[in-house]
Amino acid sequence: MKILAIESSCDETAAAVVLADREILSSVVASQIDLHKKYGGVVPELASRKHVEAILPVVDEAFTRAGVGLDAIEAIAVTQGPGLVGSLLVGLAVAKSLAYVRQIPWVGVNHIFSHVGAIYLSQGRLIHFPFIALVVSGGHTSLFRVTGPTQMSLLGRTLDDAAGEAFDKVAKFMGLGYPGGVVIDRLAREGDPAAITFPRTLLDGDSLDFSFSGLKTAVLNYLKTHQGEFSIAQVRHIAASFQEAVVDTLTAKVLRAVRQENCRLAVVAGGVACNTRLREKFLSAGESSGITVLFPPPSLCTDNAAMVAAAGYHFLQEGHRGNLSLNAYSRFEKRALKKEGKD
Ligand code: KG4
Ligand code: ZN
Repeated sequence: MKILAIESSCDETAAAVVLADREILSSVVASQIDLHKKYGGVVPELASRKHVEAILPVVDEAFTRAGVGLDAIEAIAVTQGPGLVGSLLVGLAVAKSLAYVRQIPWVGVNHIFSHVGAIYLSQGRLIHFPFIALVVSGGHTSLFRVTGPTQMSLLGRTLDDAAGEAFDKVAKFMGLGYPGGVVIDRLAREGDPAAITFPRTLLDGDSLDFSFSGLKTAVLNYLKTHQGEFSIAQVRHIAASFQEAVVDTLTAKVLRAVRQENCRLAVVAGGVACNTRLREKFLSAGESSGITVLFPPPSLCTDNAAMVAAAGYHFLQEGHRGNLSLNAYSRFEKRALKKEGKD
């Protein structure tokens, strides 16, 4: 099945042509980072206007790179939510129009299923169910037990900030620009992760929920109490110590979920799964506890449309279909896990 996929949930306009959940024929991502940088974060109204400008050229480019036209497409998958509603509606409207013109099936896909779906594209052969998935991005930090490509049950989630959001906010306090994850990752490589002890929250007991706002405040307080010019070495130490606290928490929770759910495989996906230290720590934690840890490649961790096709493919196979009244949703809802793809 040749699928056209569209993603416009936040600040990336993306389109891809993918064969089932296996082979990426093209994947085009137009980032809006330069547009939002000067505001230190995504401005929703600007994002939706930019999606309107970018979406058709991005879809055209996906066709060109794949060497196919709309007439070769057999189904369409599009992000339905969660995300910025104005932005989602742009992708949804284009998907509906193209599917209507061609009279082909289409499906609305939950963005979180898509982040997990990225793993079928990159390491499909290594996947066996059930597994634990951590989706860790700018908007989400959630743990799931995955029993099939369309079946995930929520085990825990952040009670406040998402991990990526914490990276972005801490980078902003430190004057490092937006988005902050990549910058902190780079600076931290030469910093000492043990230089400052920042809090690791909700590690007691059995909880599989996360909380990063206390850590964020602790970094902010540290910056305030040690005000003045920080040397580059100190900035690296702060970045490394903050990052270590995030990664320690994520690793501990995933290992706990693996134990509680009696699984042998963990998948870590979403933008923050690009983080160098996170990958390093997860791999060594996996090795010492005898579980396999897999990550999609970085290009499939940050927002893209290929992952939407991979997840959408399975919903299409199960007979899920969108219709013209299907609407976008802004927030992650438990019911979305069950109703995904249905109208
Ligand atoms: O998955 P994604 O592209 O968008 C959402 O669905 O939110 O994730 C973007 C997030 C941003 O918060 C960004 O700072 C973070 O992923 N990120 C990173 C790294 N690369 C991207 N965080 C830590 N280390 C990285 N290398
Ligand atoms: Zn995302």
